Amino acid sequence: MGIRNRFLIMMGILSLLALIAMGLTSYSFSKRAAIKEAENKGTIIYNYLASQREFFNEDQNPIINELVEQDRFYPYLMSGFAASRKTFEYFNERMPGFMIKYAATNPLLASNKADSEETKIISNFKANPSQKSSSGTINKNGIAFYYHAVPFKVDNIGCLTCHGDPADAPKDQVGIYGSENGYHWQEGDVVASLVVYIPIAAAIADAKTTAFKLLGIGAGGLILTMLIISIFLEKGIVTPIMALNARTEEISLGKNLDEPVSIDSKDEIATLARGIDRLRISVARMLKR
Ligand code: HEC
Repeated sequence: MGIRNRFLIMMGILSLLALIAMGLTSYSFSKRAAIKEAENKGTIIYNYLASQREFFNEDQNPIINELVEQDRFYPYLMSGFAASRKTFEYFNERMPGFMIKYAATNPLLASNKADSEETKIISNFKANPSQKSSSGTINKNGIAFYYHAVPFKVDNIGCLTCHGDPADAPKDQVGIYGSENGYHWQEGDVVASLVVYIPIAAAIADAKTTAFKLLGIGAGGLILTMLIISIFLEKGIVTPIMALNARTEEISLGKNLDEPVSIDSKDEIATLARGIDRLRISVARMLKR
């Protein structure tokens, strides 16, 4: 195989490997950035929901409790969780794709029932009481999400008015939610987790597109570079060497000894040409003798 082809193949393989490494690195950086971005969104949504529940508990609930008769229960007026859930439904109408869930293993509201992954998250919080939150990526019905989860503990005995014995709960609440589920919680137990889901499929697809674009541009540049190098090698090295080779053969056969060997360049090939020319002169002189 000629010098040119060997050089081009080696360069092609090495550049291709470098390109693939670049594409993979770009994908991994963009993906990490997408997850970081989802993490920020998750923290903002979580904190907004927490603030809303705090406003409910600190500022709204005491007044409502004074105004509403005993045993009457209006979920959106009297449960911070119901108010938060409903607010998020409106949020979803403006910004679809995000999800939240007040997931509990034994919830009052059936749709709050933890699925198998959420149950794992809650068990994890139970096993590690000092853990304040957990997060990661997760697939829900085939769609990729980043999740941010925070535990709920029965941290005051007041919770048990509604989540303890159903006989103690407001009659209306039992009427709405039944008396089967969401009761007999114990003080100190981790019973639930707020899980905020941030969609990341689009961002990950973007990361892939960017990586492929980079690969495409790089491959285009590589082909152009190899073409230019190939032309340079052909004109600057292969053609002059072949010409010198033809002249050397002639000289070895004693042909055209009067014609000087010269080449139109100033590099190592020209040095070689001068050497061959000296050889021509010597051969001519020897033959004359
Ligand atoms: C006045 C009654 C009442 C009190 C007091 C109360 N809750 Fe609830 N809680 C409810 C109702 C009703 C729901 C269902 C909300 C909905 O419809 O989304 C609920 C829902 C929840 C949920 C979501 C899971 C589920 O059961 O559907 C969690 C978690 C929760 N409560 C935790 C607590 C904690 C912790 C406390 C104490 C700090 C507490 N609750 C105090 C009535 C109450």
